[in-house]
Amino acid sequence: MPIQDFKNTIVNGDCLDIIRQFENQSIDMVLTSPPYDNLRTYKGYDFPFRPIARELFRTVKDGGVVVWVVSDATIDGTETGTSFKQAMFFKDIGFKIHDTMIFRKRNPIPQIYRQRYNNEFEYMFVFSKGTVSTHNPLMVPCLHAGLELNGTTYKNYSKHEQRRAKMAKPVKDEKIKGNIWEYVVGKNLEDQEAKGHPAPFPCELARDHIHSWSNPGDLVLDPMCGSGTTCKAAKQLGRNYIGIDTSAEYCEIARLRTEGRQEEMEQQIQLPLRETPGELFTIET
Ligand SMILES: C[S@@+](CC[C@H](N)C(=O)[O-])C[C@H]1O[C@@H](n2cnc3c(N)ncnc32)[C@H](O)[C@@H]1O
Repeated sequence: MPIQDFKNTIVNGDCLDIIRQFENQSIDMVLTSPPYDNLRTYKGYDFPFRPIARELFRTVKDGGVVVWVVSDATIDGTETGTSFKQAMFFKDIGFKIHDTMIFRKRNPIPQIYRQRYNNEFEYMFVFSKGTVSTHNPLMVPCLHAGLELNGTTYKNYSKHEQRRAKMAKPVKDEKIKGNIWEYVVGKNLEDQEAKGHPAPFPCELARDHIHSWSNPGDLVLDPMCGSGTTCKAAKQLGRNYIGIDTSAEYCEIARLRTEGRQEEMEQQIQLPLRETPGELFTIET
């Protein structure tokens, strides 16, 4: 089936069945968050990880990326390590592990104390099919912008001689952002639209990745799109999208969000949508 027929739609179904219908090398970028270790049942699903990963490899274009946002459950006192096992499987089938990034939550859910630190992050693995073809890096201000630092400020760790004095004067205004990205979860108006889903990721996270790894006009796939955060962000940024989810209910939320049907969204979650100030939770002992 031509990929054109799926463009800018939310498809209700098992992603394996749907992606099998896509042509080879038809997707520019994938951004998704799979179900984690059966932590949630959602609306009943089956998650055949390995065949899905292979289908992603077949359908992603050379130079395209898969951003896989994932975390591990703790079962019988040990983290499962599923995230790492999945990352190694992606590598085994031909992807490069391009970047292991961290999604840090500014307002992590308080947890029962069990002799370990409160979990406040998820992995965002960036797998690439060959050498990455698009990287539009996010920039942040340099702490010492404009200062004339002398050459000894930088240590030269490489074997080759570097002209450090030239690198340091003056310090640039901006530098490329690091790979730990921090977001408030579920507090912003645009994220509250997803209240009918138990585990949406923040719209800002989706926009940051889509901006980074694709260009306007590209096709972004979320094979487990839940409330449609990826699709909404892709549309906002002038990309095309395909969202897939096994739950008809989540697909409807995804369609309402992507199409910006505000009133129907409010009826769906039975709440007027409003901004909630971000807050930091602490564990009470
Ligand atoms: C972690 S949630 C994704 C949340 C999403 N990123 C958002 O912002 O709303 C995982 C989703 O995968 C869906 N799912 C599980 N197995 C699936 C499959 N085989 N095909 C398609 N969707 C599936 C679940 O219904 C659930 O909505």
